[in-house]
Amino acid sequence: MKVAIAADHGGFALKEELKRHLEAAGVQVTDFGTYSEESCDYPDFAVPACGAVLSGECDCGILLCGTGIGMSLAANKQKGIRCALCGDCYSAEMTRRHNNANVLAMGARVIGPELAFRIADIFLNTPFEGGRHQRRVDKVMALEERE
Ligand code: RB5
Repeated sequence: MKVAIAADHGGFALKEELKRHLEAAGVQVTDFGTYSEESCDYPDFAVPACGAVLSGECDCGILLCGTGIGMSLAANKQKGIRCALCGDCYSAEMTRRHNNANVLAMGARVIGPELAFRIADIFLNTPFEGGRHQRRVDKVMALEERE
């Protein structure tokens, strides 16, 4: 499992902790920054991390900012990305089972590290159910083709 991870300054500290957690569990993590708590702009980090998911270099992505909202907005502007902002374990499970989300966003100023670790573990280990959910996901993705 290869995961692209990225954060802005608001998510930097959680990114560092989450990287350690995932690597200890055998997950291969590619870090697209940011690399300090210096103020920066979340789209600059969401784009390359999502690019690694879209190219197939990484299986999925995890994005962190203060609320997770800016990162999820930037991620979902990219064709082919289905980013889910999660602050609870149930949503993390269901967005994999039903939405086939390929990127997870979390708010480092909203949830603590232990919950973030659990949410990430669930997201990475839950399969998409397909079936009727594939039809719905296809309809969502078709929206990208509208003018
Ligand atoms: C940065 O202060 C903050 O706005 C950012 O981390 C994020 O929460 C935006 O959605």
